[in-house]
Amino acid sequence: MPVYHRLGKIPRKRHSIFRREGGALYPEELVGNRGFSGSSSLLYHLNRPTSILRITRCWELAWEADPDPALRLRHFRTHQLPPVPSPTLDRTPLLFNREVALSLVRPEGADESFYRNAQGDELIFVVEGKGVLESQMGELPFRPGDYLVIPRGILHRYRFDPVPIRFLVLESAGELRTPAHYRSQHGQLLEISPYCERDIRLPASLPVHEEPGEFQLLVKSQNRLTEVALDHHPFDVVGWDGYYYPWALNIEDFEPRVGRFHLPPPVHQTFEGDGFVVCSFCPRPFDFDPNAIPVPYNHSNVMSDEVIYYANSEFMSRKGIEFGSITLHPCGLPHGPQPGKTEASIGKSSTSELAVMVDTFHPLVVSRQALGIEDKTYYLSWQERNDA
Ligand SMILES: [Fe+2]
Repeated sequence: MPVYHRLGKIPRKRHSIFRREGGALYPEELVGNRGFSGSSSLLYHLNRPTSILRITRCWELAWEADPDPALRLRHFRTHQLPPVPSPTLDRTPLLFNREVALSLVRPEGADESFYRNAQGDELIFVVEGKGVLESQMGELPFRPGDYLVIPRGILHRYRFDPVPIRFLVLESAGELRTPAHYRSQHGQLLEISPYCERDIRLPASLPVHEEPGEFQLLVKSQNRLTEVALDHHPFDVVGWDGYYYPWALNIEDFEPRVGRFHLPPPVHQTFEGDGFVVCSFCPRPFDFDPNAIPVPYNHSNVMSDEVIYYANSEFMSRKGIEFGSITLHPCGLPHGPQPGKTEASIGKSSTSELAVMVDTFHPLVVSRQALGIEDKTYYLSWQERNDA
């Protein structure tokens, strides 16, 4: 987590007597990862977080694979996916392996129920939409271009402004974190980091709900969802402190790097997980040597599947993509600029591209659900005769 944070009222010492008016103790709860050895926060509730009324149902989440395993460069037009009711229950899986999963969702509205992902950290890239991420640790307003980092186990819910909502969702089996080489031994983001603590937004307000009743929680674990009924509103936290909470970074606050000649993708790295990295391609001046070729050279992915989500319709080395496209360039096949793109880039002074890249170190599987939005001729688009 970025920094120590606290909201609301907490006792001076942890695990000490802390009473509300009337004399009842505030139930204390540790929320974190890696048992008692990872980052955590201590929360003080009005009610016991354990007061379950009933388990109402449980169902499997089916992530089916494309039955054709042949390697090819692939392109999916995610803007063709229809709107769906829920931002958490109706995500369309697109690409996955055991370490990371990518899905997309265009919710028509918010959930009434509360959601906790107990099997992975979530990174939400807000393609479109505005609203508030409500959580046990308080409220975090979000806007287009935000990365919302939601560590596992944190109960949350979205509240949307009345505008179209579109999320790219990444689930990470390992801990999602700032890149290790950006951090000091004490966790501070270094001067070489393209963003720093000033760019990171934390929950800033903590509404306390004292509401008895029946409230539904949806808990994701072992690729199943379990619906749990609680006897009180779960956002009843009067105070908390620690290093474990949801946070936001806007892609516009990522400071892009530029060289005299082309710099490789690691300079765009924004996050890391176990088995993958996330990079941000942001508007920037091009390389400044008169002989520089701004677009990348052909490259053969080694131990890396490369996924790019195009957050606008421009990308310096690609053609035929659109806002909302996802390309997958798998390990085993080289890729590079499409015909005409290299020559066309020479002498250009800047790019306005905006894209999110996920490089995985183990191969990804394409979901069956992604096949319906696939541009099936993409892998042929490097043919000169297709140059337009
Ligand atoms: Fe690439």
